[in-house]
Amino acid sequence: MADLLLGLQWGDEGKGKIVDVLTSNYDIIARFQGGPNAGHTLEFDGIKHVLRTIPSGIFHANSINIIGNGVVIDPVVFQKEIEGLEKFNIDIKSKLIISRKAHLILPTHRLLDAASETAKGKAKIGSTLKGIGPTYMDKTGRNGLRVGDIELTDFKERYRTLADKHETMIKFYDVNIQYNLAELEKEFFDAIEDLKKLDFIDSEEYLYNAQKAGKTILCEGAQGSLLDVDFGTYPFVTSSNTTAAGACTGLGIAPNQIKEVYGIFKAYTTRVGSGPFPTEDFGEAGDVMAKVGNEFGSVTGRKRRCGWLDLVALKYAVRINGVTQLMMMKGDVLSGFKTLKVCTAYKYKGQSIDHLPYNIEPENVEPLYTEFKGWNADLTGMTSYDQLPKELVDYIAFIEKEVEVPIKIVSVGPDRKQTIMK
Ligand code: IMP
Repeated sequence: MADLLLGLQWGDEGKGKIVDVLTSNYDIIARFQGGPNAGHTLEFDGIKHVLRTIPSGIFHANSINIIGNGVVIDPVVFQKEIEGLEKFNIDIKSKLIISRKAHLILPTHRLLDAASETAKGKAKIGSTLKGIGPTYMDKTGRNGLRVGDIELTDFKERYRTLADKHETMIKFYDVNIQYNLAELEKEFFDAIEDLKKLDFIDSEEYLYNAQKAGKTILCEGAQGSLLDVDFGTYPFVTSSNTTAAGACTGLGIAPNQIKEVYGIFKAYTTRVGSGPFPTEDFGEAGDVMAKVGNEFGSVTGRKRRCGWLDLVALKYAVRINGVTQLMMMKGDVLSGFKTLKVCTAYKYKGQSIDHLPYNIEPENVEPLYTEFKGWNADLTGMTSYDQLPKELVDYIAFIEKEVEVPIKIVSVGPDRKQTIMK
């Protein structure tokens, strides 16, 4: 059996922290989609560390970490990520294994991402520019290079054919992208040599045998449900399935083997990049959330857009993923607000609706809010549920009633220790 943990909003919910907190309960932590567009932040013992492609179980002594077939790997970013872990004295080779079927991000994928975004102008997605979209395009277009291809004798020729094609495509965009491909390729092939030092596996087979042997598995999602290529706010989404189904296709775990689905959400909402965001707050409240919550992208450094909790969107994500337990992050950031707002319905074509319609652009939906009394207490030192202020307990109870799933963890700060189990 496997449990699954994923984000229910537009990413940055704090998945890295929760995986890290839960890791000691699992033998295996497996990433199933996305790539270096992710930045999973972990804080413990005064150390803050951001992981990109490597699963968040890497810091725990006994867990094996798997990068699944659904992930896209940039060897160059990966090499730097491994170097960044050197100071922790982790035996990476014994703790980290990679699916041969995971696709490789080539330097030209990154360039194509930049060319595509530049050509889109104002309509740009706001991509992290890590080459994610073009790599998944090559995967579904059946042109991609996979980790297993590195072991083939003609890997370099295969690389050349694809990179040459990409150069033609970059020219097609007719935008000014400056690059030195020879330099980028040197960096890429150096990083490939380092990647080869790790073990490549057929991860679906490995996970099948692990399940048979009674090992516990946690599948770690990246980005958030509203960035899912099918169910998110298309086209302002990422290029993978960030929802529960992605764990099946991205690891080869059968649907009936998934038990708990942990859904992570922030007590408010953030979004980075372009696209609709009905509860975005352009006033003081949004500014306070950004400042107190330190809402800056861990990968791009961009300021995140902030706003109130959107229960219409949260319910949608809970249903699509079959969430069985909720985890609410950053409750501490809402301390000090006199009044809190929660969106419980949208005004859509003159009517009040409580489901997510096809189009949530601002001209189509207006959020309808329920107001709550705020609290003033500093939550960051609290360690048990009965210490939480009554107003926060009411806020939590309201969400649970609306969404019909219990909130089992309330996070009151970035550190591992600032985690309240209910
Ligand atoms: P891409 O996946 O880098 O192409 O980015 C597509 C959209 O998803 C952009 O709006 C990004 O800001 C957003 N995005 C991608 N990865 C993350 C993430 O890990 N957290 C939050 N937003 C993300």
